[in-house]
Formats: sequence, C-alpha cells, structure tokens
Amino acid sequence: MTTMKAARIHEFGDFSVIRHDTVPLPRPAPGEVLVEVAATSFNPTEAALRAGMLQGFLPVDLPHTLGWDVAGTVAGTGTGAQGFAVGDRVVGWLDSGAAAEYVRAPAAVLVPAPEAIPLANAAALPLAGLTAWQAVFEHGKAAAGQRVLVNGAGGGTGGFVTQLAKYAGAEVLATAGARSAGAVRRQGADQVIDYTAGPVAASLDGPVDLLLNLVPLSSRDAAALAPLVRPGGRVVSIATPIEPPAGAEVTAMHMVARNDPAQLGELVRLVEAGAVAIDISGSRPLSDLADVHRLSEAGLTRGKVVIIP
Ligand SMILES: NC(=O)c1ccc[n+]([C@@H]2O[C@H](COP(=O)([O-])OP(=O)(O)OC[C@H]3O[C@@H](n4cnc5c(N)ncnc54)[C@H](OP(=O)(O)O)[C@@H]3O)[C@@H](O)[C@H]2O)c1
Repeated sequence: MTTMKAARIHEFGDFSVIRHDTVPLPRPAPGEVLVEVAATSFNPTEAALRAGMLQGFLPVDLPHTLGWDVAGTVAGTGTGAQGFAVGDRVVGWLDSGAAAEYVRAPAAVLVPAPEAIPLANAAALPLAGLTAWQAVFEHGKAAAGQRVLVNGAGGGTGGFVTQLAKYAGAEVLATAGARSAGAVRRQGADQVIDYTAGPVAASLDGPVDLLLNLVPLSSRDAAALAPLVRPGGRVVSIATPIEPPAGAEVTAMHMVARNDPAQLGELVRLVEAGAVAIDISGSRPLSDLADVHRLSEAGLTRGKVVIIP
C-alpha cells in the first residue's frame, strides 16, 4: 500500500472545503512511528481552523490534513523511535493530521491507549481531556470541598471537566440542556442547571469557588456569570473570557490547552480505573467529516464524536 485517504483542506472556508484526497502513505522520520488510525475525534476548535480563524496564532500550511486526536496501532517505526513496537495500541495529540488512514507521529507524544475501552473511543481523549485537566487542576486549582460551576458540561470538553472536578472532590454544579442533562448527571454532577430555562444565577444556592466556562457566550451572558464567584475565587474560561466585576477580588483567566503526554498518561490511568468515562455521542466515517463540522456549527452536536477512517 503506497497511498491512503486523508481529509484535507486546500483553502479556508465553510465545511464544504473539506476534501477526501488520495495521498502518499506517510513515512515516519527519525524518532517517529507510523500509526494505523483507528479513529480521530472532532474538536470544534478545528472548525475555527478550517475557517481560517486561527491563522493568527496557530498557522497551518495548505493543503492541511485535519485531525488532532489519534487512537490507533503502531504500523512501523522510524530510526531511533523509542518506547513502541509494531502492534502497540497508542493514543495522542498530533499536529500531523490524523483524519486519515495512517499518520506519522513523534513517539514522544504518544502514550499507550487504555485497554478498558474500544480503541476508537480513546480518540476522544487527548485534546478535550487535556483541556479539561489543565482547566480543572492547573488553572482552576479545584480542590475537595469547593463548589465548582461548570458552564457547558454537555460538550466534548465538559464531560471530562465534570468528572475531573468530581475526582478532585468538589461539589459540581453543571449547566446543560435537556439532551445532555442525563449524561451530565451520570458523570457525577451534583446539580444540573438547565441553561435554556432562565438565568443560571436563579438556580444557584450561593456563590461558587470556581467557575469553569466552556461556552462561547454573548457579552451579556458572560457578564451575568461573572458575579457568581465568591471573593477570592477563580474563573477559568476556554472560550469567551469572563471579566469579574471591578473590585470583586476574583482571579480570572482565559486558557489555551497544550499537549502534555504525561498528563494524557494520567487521564488514561483514570479511564482504566473507571474514574473517567468517555461520553461518545456518535461515531461517523471519515467521509462524513464535513457533515460533522456542519452539525457542530449549527449547535447540533454534543459529547464527543469519533471519526473512523
Ligand atoms: N482554549 C482552549 O484551549 C480550548 C480547547 C478546547 C475547546 N475549546 C473551545 O471550547 C468550547 C467548548 O469545546 P467543546 O469541545 O466542549 O465543544 P462542544 O462539544 O461543541 O460543546 C457543545 C455543547 O455546548 C453546550 N452549550 C451550548 N451553548 C450553551 C450555553 N449557553 N450554556 C451551556 N452550555 C451550552 C451544549 O450543551 P447541551 O447539549 O447541554 O445543550 C453542547 O453540548 C468550544 O468553543 C471550543 O472551540 C477551547
């Protein structure tokens, strides 16, 4: 086999710019392995990349193969690639485009995939799981006994955020609409607030120690959430920044997730231990990737969608 299918963009634009190209099979460079892709997963940030909105801080050359997450099986090794052999099941966050049948990957960014779940489902873990880990532990500093409000718990990142905040020992109050409320409860949320039913503040019994915002918001909705945090508390947003009211003594930040294989290894261990479950809402073939982008941008996806080549 010398060629493979890959989902690529040759220009920036709406979902229709995603093409299914036949391209040469990649060859692993020194320190890299070749991974036969079991699945990648959809992340909404990649729709922003596809639209050309990330060129300012995450520029890509065209044509560009989509797919940051990978779960798959090592199919070949480059010289000096340490730690993996042909046949090993791996998972990781890549820049080399995993929306394809094969992808080359630096061995150093891969970790063994969890054995406890289907390999394809593990593709949902890297980017969303690492974003959640860094929001909850690094920036949010969630701790036992705290009250944590997760805004946007029904999404692909939110499922991990809720479970990791519970793992930290926090009381978790989570916003979700009707389609996600059951999943968010199963993930351990102590209270599920229907954000479609009225202001979140009206359903909260007192302020929270930490607000984790996972939703692009209007400035009015962002301003309504800001006063819900107690003095000395924290706000971490992965989407719209939330500014605390003047003099509120609340630490607020917007974060951008980074690849961290050690943290991914910790997440895999939590999945193996049954402490973190992966909320897979759908599994679609690679040829449907443009449709998944369309559905996400129309607000019609929830949880994680895995993409199978
Ligand atoms: N800064 C970073 O490093 C970083 C990393 C990853 C993602 N992101 C960004 O963070 C956002 C979330 O990512 P994701 O993967 O979780 O997205 P996602 O899976 O597309 O999130 C969809 C979910 O958002 C929920 N939602 C929509 N409007 C809401 C509202 N007003 N209040 C509460 N929930 C609402 C919906 O919940 P229901 O189903 O309950 O209606 C839906 O399930 C995206 O904008 C993404 O681009 C940023």
